[in-house]
Amino acid sequence: MIGGRVLSVRTRWLIPVGLGTFLLGVYVFTYPIDPSWSSIQQHIPSTWPFGPGRPGPPPDSNSDWNPHPPGPPPPPNSHWNSWTEKTGSATAKESDYIYPHQNPASPLLVEVDEEKRNAVVDAFKHAWGHYERKAMGSDEFHPIKGVGTNLTYSGAGIGYNIIDAIDTMYIMGLKTEYETARKWIKEHLSFRRKGSVSTFETTIRVLGGLLSTYYLTSDQLYLKCAEDLGSRLIHAFDTPLGLPVSHIDLANPAEWKDSWGNMKVCPAEIGTLQLEFRYLAQATGNETYWRKVEKVMEVIDRNTFSNGLVTGDLSLKDGSFFNTEIRLGGRVDSYYEYLLKQWLQTNRTEPFYDRMYSKAMAGINDNLIQQTPNQKLTYTAELIAKRGVKIVEWTLRHRQEHLTCFIAGSLMLGATTSGLAPGVVKASVPPRPEEFMARGLRDWNTGTELLETCMKTHDTATGLAAEIVTFKTEESPPHAHGTDEEERDWFISGNHINSKGAFWAPWDAHYLLRPEIVESLFLAWRLTGDMRYRNYAWNVFQAIEKHCRLPEGGYASVANVDRLPVKHEDKQETFFLSETLKYLYLTFSDTSVLPLTDIVFNTEAHPLPVFTPSTIKPGLS
Ligand SMILES: *[C@@H]1O[C@H](CO)[C@@H](O)[C@H](O)[C@H]1NC(C)=O
Ligand SMILES: *[C@@H]1O[C@H](CO)[C@@H](O)[C@H](O)[C@H]1NC(C)=O
Ligand SMILES: *[C@@H]1O[C@H](CO)[C@@H](O)[C@H](O)[C@H]1NC(C)=O
Repeated sequence: MIGGRVLSVRTRWLIPVGLGTFLLGVYVFTYPIDPSWSSIQQHIPSTWPFGPGRPGPPPDSNSDWNPHPPGPPPPPNSHWNSWTEKTGSATAKESDYIYPHQNPASPLLVEVDEEKRNAVVDAFKHAWGHYERKAMGSDEFHPIKGVGTNLTYSGAGIGYNIIDAIDTMYIMGLKTEYETARKWIKEHLSFRRKGSVSTFETTIRVLGGLLSTYYLTSDQLYLKCAEDLGSRLIHAFDTPLGLPVSHIDLANPAEWKDSWGNMKVCPAEIGTLQLEFRYLAQATGNETYWRKVEKVMEVIDRNTFSNGLVTGDLSLKDGSFFNTEIRLGGRVDSYYEYLLKQWLQTNRTEPFYDRMYSKAMAGINDNLIQQTPNQKLTYTAELIAKRGVKIVEWTLRHRQEHLTCFIAGSLMLGATTSGLAPGVVKASVPPRPEEFMARGLRDWNTGTELLETCMKTHDTATGLAAEIVTFKTEESPPHAHGTDEEERDWFISGNHINSKGAFWAPWDAHYLLRPEIVESLFLAWRLTGDMRYRNYAWNVFQAIEKHCRLPEGGYASVANVDRLPVKHEDKQETFFLSETLKYLYLTFSDTSVLPLTDIVFNTEAHPLPVFTPSTIKPGLS
């Protein structure tokens, strides 16, 4: 059964029937009409990019609408957070705003940048087309050899690449590609594939992709497949405490049971399933999915440190955290991301998650946020446990993963929702300082500063950011890291050893086509309307085009971002199609496409709707 709420949310989009004729006009102009395609499209949210230009004027526009409202131009090199340095308090002067906002009660709408958006669509076609010709149906793709591989023992795939990419096709309006992908799902997709797959990766990429495509299209095919997959994955939660095991056999989902005994899991893999299973519950009306993932959050909440932080490892048996490492990168990252997004997903009706989120952000602020002594770059460090006889001592390690850069945009999103002052329902674009409560302002500033630092990590030979950077501290001796890196406040660990550009590259030096920085740029762009973020995103895209694009088709990872000519590695990760190119596309779309007020992106960039729980009553408060 489809939850009534889903339908009523959808009908909202059908209300402006008055615009219908106009929409259809634009639509006919943009795509050759095909009845089945257009019948799918009528279910797309009103935010659907109907080709160039948006239907009708923005709701608050006067006739002289201008995407860049009049006002003093930003001073050179200024950005939002510079005002705190100047004033040091929460009261800002009018002159501190980048874009003074005429009507703060209404969203700022900024037009599409068609040329750049089309360049991103072209990149998607280049990446997908090569996969479709060479490896259609395979889970993973190696674009240089032009071959695919599958994740299961049986040698058959689970639709990993196709399902991860299909909603991007739909959002980009790539009809031919979309129909090909849908046909594959309809005719070939099966989850009765023997082998061990990751509960987490399968949930965020496959379940998430099916659910978002269902949300966008209302096509029951996707919900049916999602329910089939969900009913298999749900067996992962059959452990004494209800914490899911990391891997599961989709063909025989109950079989893992013998081996769960001494398993360690990480917060990201058990705390990044909730958006997907909660929406599955909402869409099917089956409460089981909701309760299973909710229970996990209750167990985590009972076991976090008093400052809201967690380490990367906890016991599946008793839920306790091991004293290993406290950080924001791999193993933990999306756990923090989903604290905020669970609260947003249910339309801010579950204060439980808001409390967990704000406590964790305070813990991060107090313990992990650092500044370089030289250029004053804000960055995130890690805390490493050193075990003595009785006590555990935590020491800082000044290492930041590319993955960690998600936190910049997440802090900004959190500041403009969870961090709003009492009585402020919606933040302006850009937000005004007085709209924040103290912790909102703190997180906004930290987020914008971290994003600047993440952009600084693109100061490499290729303009691509490394997988891991290490920041220089008072203690790092001068010239310790190779003469070519003196200018920077950070270095790529291990890279000075082969400064002659040998074949070997340390892991830290890779670029794997990751999305986290463009994800944060997209959020920053939407929340501020500040062109600097669009420009940054364009620079990142240009570097990808220059160094990752393969002439025959596809995009490859780069082994060392700081060495030219680049050495490619033979992998085009599915998240390049699902996340990197989607966030870039959305950054150059107009701001009404998938508005942040109506949707939450899962950690794989699959958009899911915000809804108010009705049939299912949330159990944590
Ligand atoms: C992976 O599995 C799919 C079927 O699910 C099949 O079409 C494809 O050929 C397989 N790829 C490889 C490399 O075996
Ligand atoms: C709800 O989902 C669970 C898990 O897949 C399943 O066992 C149960 O039969 C479903 N309930 C209904 C009413 O469909
Ligand atoms: C969210 O809540 C607000 C105010 O309580 C309400 O106006 C809005 O319709 C809700 N949105 C959804 C998607 O349920």
